[in-house]
Amino acid sequence: MTDCADVARERLATLPTPLHPAPRLSEHAGVEIWFKRDDLTGLGLGGNKVRALEFLLADALAQGCDHLVTGGGPQSNWAMLAALAARTRGMPSTLVSYGDPPAGGAVGNHALAVLAGARLHFTGDPDRTSADRGVEEVCGRLREEGLTPYGVYRGGATGLGALGYAHATAELDEQVRDAGVRPRQLWLATGSCGTQAGLVAGRAWLQAEHDVVGVTVSRPAPECRERVHRIASEACGLLGVSARPLQVEIIDGFMGPAKGARSTAGETAAELVARTEGVFLDPVFAAKAMAGLLAAAADGTVEGPVVFLVSGGAPTLFTA
Ligand SMILES: Cc1ncc(COP(=O)(O)O)c(C=O)c1O
Repeated sequence: MTDCADVARERLATLPTPLHPAPRLSEHAGVEIWFKRDDLTGLGLGGNKVRALEFLLADALAQGCDHLVTGGGPQSNWAMLAALAARTRGMPSTLVSYGDPPAGGAVGNHALAVLAGARLHFTGDPDRTSADRGVEEVCGRLREEGLTPYGVYRGGATGLGALGYAHATAELDEQVRDAGVRPRQLWLATGSCGTQAGLVAGRAWLQAEHDVVGVTVSRPAPECRERVHRIASEACGLLGVSARPLQVEIIDGFMGPAKGARSTAGETAAELVARTEGVFLDPVFAAKAMAGLLAAAADGTVEGPVVFLVSGGAPTLFTA
C-alpha cells in the first residue's frame, strides 16, 4: 500500500475498514452503491475522525506535548474521540464547547467525553467559533501552569489531519481493485471539511478515477469549497504531490433545519438504509449525505458505481 513514510503516525484505527456492496439499497436507488465502513474504525464507537487523529496525535507526541486541547459542541464526535485517543497514549485533555452546559445533563458524546476523563470547559457564548477562541485561551492558561498543550481547532480539519483520508484513498484503491469494481464517485458528509480534503488530496496523490462528492451538512457551499481546497492543498504539500487543479464538488440543500439537527430527508434515508442493509447512519452527518445521494439518484444525475462513506457518529443516534 502507498505510504507517506516520513510523516509520523500513531496507530489508532483497525484498518482496513470493510468495503461491501449494498445490494438492496442499490436496487431501491437504481444505482450501484457500496459502503466503506468507517463507522468501524475501532476506537471507541468508531468513526471518520479516528483517521485524522492518527496524524495529529503523533504530531502532539513528537512535539513533547502533555495535554490535548480541542473543542466543538457537546455532541461533537470529533472532540470525544480526540479525548479518547489522547487517553490511549496517557495524555489528558480539555474539551472546549461553545455555549452553556446542556440543561438535561450529559448524554451521547458529552457523556462519553466525561467517561474518558476529559476536562470540560463551556465558553458561555452560543457562537460556534467561540470554541476555537476557547482552545487558544485554555492553551494559554495551561502554558502558564507549565504544561505543554497541543491545541487543535474544531473538527481537526488541517492538512496534517487530512492525511488520514489521503491514506484511506490508498486503502480504498486496493479494496476496489480486489473487488473488481471501478467506482465513479465517492460520496460523504462534509462538516469541518477535513475528511473531504483528505479524499481530494488522496485522489490527486493516487490519480484515482473516482470523483469525490461532499454533501454539506453545516456550512454554506462556497465556504466548504474554499476550506476543502485550502486543506487539501496543505495535505498535498505534505504528500509531496505537485500542485494541480484539485476537484472539489459540494452538494447543497440537505442540511435540514440546522447543523446538528435531524432533517426529514435524512431520517427517511437512515430508515431506508437500516431496513435494507442493516447499517445505522448517524442522523446529522451520514443520514443527510445519504439523502443527497438518493435525491441525485432519483434525478438521474449519479453515475455508479458509487462508494458511500459510512462515517460513524453512533453516539448521536441516541441524542440529536
Ligand atoms: C460522523 C461524522 N461524519 C462526517 C463528519 C464530517 O467530517 P468533516 O468534519 O471532516 O467534514 C463528521 C464530523 O464531525 C462526523 O462526526
